[in-house]
Amino acid sequence: MSVVIIRQDGKIEEWKLALQLAAPEINFYSYLEDHQKDRIEVAMVWKHPQGIFKEYPSMRYIASFGAGVDFLLQDPEIPADVKITRVVDPVLASDMSEYVIGALFSFMKNLIHYRSDQIKAIWDPTPYIRIRDLTVGIMGMGALGSCLAKDLYRIGFKVVGWSRSKKNIDFMECFSGEKQRAEFLSKTNALVCLLPLTPETTNILNKPLFGQLPPGAYVINVARGGHLVDEDLIDMINRGHISGACLDVYHQEPLPKQHPFWAHPKILMTPHVASVSDAQAVVPQLLENYFRFKKGEALLNEVSTLRGY
Ligand code: NAP
Ligand code: GLV
Repeated sequence: MSVVIIRQDGKIEEWKLALQLAAPEINFYSYLEDHQKDRIEVAMVWKHPQGIFKEYPSMRYIASFGAGVDFLLQDPEIPADVKITRVVDPVLASDMSEYVIGALFSFMKNLIHYRSDQIKAIWDPTPYIRIRDLTVGIMGMGALGSCLAKDLYRIGFKVVGWSRSKKNIDFMECFSGEKQRAEFLSKTNALVCLLPLTPETTNILNKPLFGQLPPGAYVINVARGGHLVDEDLIDMINRGHISGACLDVYHQEPLPKQHPFWAHPKILMTPHVASVSDAQAVVPQLLENYFRFKKGEALLNEVSTLRGY
């Protein structure tokens, strides 16, 4: 029983140790060490090097180490019949909620603005926004979006949501599909993107969409860089229609040093850390799926390649 671990972020040994300790009967290999590639049927992967799957002709099941699977579904070298699963985990969801709540308060209470004033020794009190004055609009009401909605509601925010299929949630108004998108946006003062990256959602955060938000709206993108048209965001902020943005994900990661986001005073950036899979929390579901796969049973959190998420 062998599994290959493929990731390029320096965390292979950490994950290998956690997996090996939990399942000593399985051989876990880093893709960088010697192993019999043509016999490997299962991979656990986070943002693999392009072309790597050509080396694994027997591959039948790939588990993403994260919630997103866009990097796998975009790889034309992964055969269509290879099963793909993703992480759905309460810790991942609560980490995401905590990040978004932090970003909302730093916007509402002008904390970033004051930090830059502080560096220049400027004393300049500015009006702030109260919880009761803000409606948060969540694009993507899945595992992460629905947890965020609950947490925001508990704090006292008004929340609206948008997804592909209609949701009925008693404490909030939910919208679905293209037809209801404009109405959802018109009610949103702070927009949070938690969509998966698919052909339908690529570049969805663009100038026409920003134009449908009320003036002064704030934008938080914690999903994928590919959702955002970078120059449209900068333009709408510079025109004053969007008051600022918090970004955790980018078209290219790390973001190139010359990118205008770095120096923009109204853009708060973090390096794709909103919610990071925790080995302790996630290893049990990776192993559960491994054994299900071996027994030919249905996998947990299998992705629909047709739907794209
Ligand atoms: P999920 O459970 O699959 O939820 C996706 C939601 O988006 C669902 O509500 C879905 O609608 C909706 N959706 C999909 N396509 C749509 C479309 N064309 N129009 C409208 N709504 C659409 O995903 P998740 O676990 O919440 O994760 C969301 C994303 O967050 C991941 O794909 C990943 O890219 C990102 N993420 C980022 C970080 C980070 O650290 N920055 C961490 C984890 C995840 P239905 O409910 O109708 O299916
Ligand atoms: C992180 O970006 C994830 O998809 O889990």
